[in-house]
Amino acid sequence: MTVTIVGSQLGDEGKGGIVDLYGDDVDVVARYQGGDNAGHTVVHEGETYKLSLVPSGAIRGKVGVLGNGCVVNPRTLFDELDTLQERGLDPDVRIAERAHIIFPFHRVLDGIEEKVKSESDSEVGTTGRGIGPTYEDKAGRRGIRAGDLRNPDVLRERLEYIVPQKRAVVEDVYGVAVEDLDDPDALDVDALYEEFREYGERFEAEDMMVNAGVFLSDAIAEGQNVMLEGAQGTTIDIDHGNYPYVTSSNPTAGGATTGTGLNPGVVGGGDVIGIVKAYLTRVGSGPLPTELGGVVGDTPGYEEQGEGENEALATRIREEGGEYGTVTGRPRRVAWLDMPMLRHAARVSGFTGLAINHLDVLAGLDEVKVGDTYTLDGEEQHTVPATTEEWGRCKAQYRTFDGWPEFDPATVASEGYEALPENARDYIEYIEAELDTPAYALGVGPGRSETVVRERPY
Ligand code: IMP
Repeated sequence: MTVTIVGSQLGDEGKGGIVDLYGDDVDVVARYQGGDNAGHTVVHEGETYKLSLVPSGAIRGKVGVLGNGCVVNPRTLFDELDTLQERGLDPDVRIAERAHIIFPFHRVLDGIEEKVKSESDSEVGTTGRGIGPTYEDKAGRRGIRAGDLRNPDVLRERLEYIVPQKRAVVEDVYGVAVEDLDDPDALDVDALYEEFREYGERFEAEDMMVNAGVFLSDAIAEGQNVMLEGAQGTTIDIDHGNYPYVTSSNPTAGGATTGTGLNPGVVGGGDVIGIVKAYLTRVGSGPLPTELGGVVGDTPGYEEQGEGENEALATRIREEGGEYGTVTGRPRRVAWLDMPMLRHAARVSGFTGLAINHLDVLAGLDEVKVGDTYTLDGEEQHTVPATTEEWGRCKAQYRTFDGWPEFDPATVASEGYEALPENARDYIEYIEAELDTPAYALGVGPGRSETVVRERPY
């Protein structure tokens, strides 16, 4: 059977920790979208691992699969694998033959386009990893897939088709001289061919390439437990997020079928767990109706408005929660929980369970607020409007909860749900009721053991 893990907000909800928590019961962990824009931190046997591409289960001895819906930068993948090996782990990671490859020119184009957009204040605030340009080439039917790296003739033929086009875009559309780039080889067919052919050889030598749908279906047929691990979150889904401030893939549960080759019946037959951070953070631009503080360059209008009235509170939560990007190190924007966003996420993905993380970070506050509904042009809204312009005009209507005191995570985790302060339980029960979904797990500290586990999905 499968369990699918979906970020219900804007990414960074602590998905890696939940994947890791249930990892004991899992045989295979497959990622279904995204690439090295993701960042997950896993604490395992006292060691902290920061991963962006390797599925988190792979550090716990599970088979990790990068599904066909992923975009894979082999430089990052092999860097991470080599580092993990140096730290004494031997991760078993497979890559779908149908996964698209991120080339250095994709990163170059990501950087140039963001810079151009920033001149009109319309940059997305991407991670700069070349994600969007790679998915563009996939949709444009000119991308190069992992399976193509195995065949040098195909690789060269495809590079000879695509690289001159990219060079023309860089030089003629954006007016950037290729020789002036930090990495001029990013647009050199011969250099790319040599480097990526070697990656293909290494994929082969290490028996890493699989037909993901077949591999995963066979595993399920043999009775193995498969976890489908989403990266990013619902509000940055290319279809269901706040376009254009989105990533270029589908982190929602539908992506778990198209991005692995498992049919919707298989994914829908298992649990779909929505990961919720007890508050909200955002990396990059776009609306955030419950925003508390701001981040220069990311919060719309921040420069003109100056600091928000709740800046000190935002800073406290950011520091307490370590809210800095795993991949980029950027400070995250901090906001109160946004229920319209969660209702939207629960509907799109059909959550059967929730994991609510970071309840400890809010401990010690006098009161905790939740954006319960929005008003837009005088109308009450229970879910996120489809246009980002309308969403940007939504005003959060707050519901206030009494805060809860600091607690010892280890005691709460060992004694269970009832050991949580009563006000924290009220908060959790409100979320469960609004989403009509039970909380399977409650994160009360950063470590794997600092979780109240109420349900094991396998
Ligand atoms: P891209 O995925 O690098 O193209 O970035 C597109 C948008 O998604 C930007 O707003 C990023 O900050 C955001 N984003 C991408 N990956 C993550 C993630 O793992 N966590 C949070 N935000 C992300």
